[in-house]
Amino acid sequence: MKKQPRSSPRSHRTQRTVSIVGTGSYTPEKRLTNADLTKIVDTSDEWITTRTGIKERRIAAKDEKTSDMASRAALKALEQADVDPKDVDLILVATATPDMLFPATACFVQKKIGSPKAACLDISAACAGFLFGVEIGQQFITSGTHDTVLVIGAEKLSSITNWTDRNTCVLFGDGAGAVVLQHRGRAHGVISTHIGSDGNFTDILYMPGGGSNTPITRDNAHMHLATIHMHGKEVYKQAVTSMLSASKKAMEQAGLTTDDIACVIPHQANLRIIEGIADRLKIPLDRFFVNLDKYGNTSAAAVAMALDEANRSGRIKRGDYVLMVVFGGGLTWASTIVEW
Ligand code: UT7
Repeated sequence: MKKQPRSSPRSHRTQRTVSIVGTGSYTPEKRLTNADLTKIVDTSDEWITTRTGIKERRIAAKDEKTSDMASRAALKALEQADVDPKDVDLILVATATPDMLFPATACFVQKKIGSPKAACLDISAACAGFLFGVEIGQQFITSGTHDTVLVIGAEKLSSITNWTDRNTCVLFGDGAGAVVLQHRGRAHGVISTHIGSDGNFTDILYMPGGGSNTPITRDNAHMHLATIHMHGKEVYKQAVTSMLSASKKAMEQAGLTTDDIACVIPHQANLRIIEGIADRLKIPLDRFFVNLDKYGNTSAAAVAMALDEANRSGRIKRGDYVLMVVFGGGLTWASTIVEW
């Protein structure tokens, strides 16, 4: 018999549950394969495949902005949820590649999808941002402040990629994913969440230029400062450690064990990281949903896109316990268990 999750220790959650009532995603048309990358930097399909599992990624068109991709994913999620964009109360866009530093990309999305009464803000938690958004969104619903929240993870990482750096340029891609959150009884309930950060590691994954610390000027424009800088090995270690502990915390809080989890949707950064987590959690790899071979690492969009694919393909079914777990620059990490 299926185990019932423990009621959340945070008592308000037992008053108003939160469901994911629709998912959507969007990926740009242009594919950049590993073979294509060998023409840009000194790399090989063999290196990229064995070190990361990535085979290709999508690249947005020049005039395609993060808000364009976010809006397309959002409209699909709203359509599936059968929710009119006019009824959205709050739009949260998790992104490290906003259209502009301000206004928030969420405001551009609001205009594009037609949600005049929504409050809009962006979430800056790098690759972990989407699940930070789910946690923030559900707090507004459980408290009774809002009824309908749109949470989007969207990235145009190609716009902050250093295409001369083989250590990073082979890893990333563009795309967007979205969910609609509402209180609709018990089905599809978010039953457990955990978020965390460690500011001691701000120097292992970051973009040094373009903010108030180091504005881009004529003198530094050639230095690729407004691109992703990463110490891959250190990030790798921290990713495994923090995703493991976040997964355990979410299961513990829900009173579930690894045997209860039907599907794990992890951050899509590197297949070896996912294998490491599967091994340590003792969950067979075939219970992990992986699509990084097609899209690379799309940061805040990754789990949102994977969730939509898992949902629409029937990989996750009603009643399944789904564990999502993410990790990103900051450092930031988050985990969410949903009863589908
Ligand atoms: O989304 C946020 C989180 N991000 C991540 O989770 C990324 C975490 N890190 C990783 O996934 C891995 O560390 C990488 C995939 C980035 C790198 O894999 P690695 O096994 O840690 O490789 P490495 O950095 O130790 O590099 C090994 C070698 C180096 O050559 P030497 O110094 O040993 O001669 C690199 O120069 O591989 C070389 N290398 C490449 N060779 C061919 C680095 N990039 C490439 C490349 N093609 N693209």
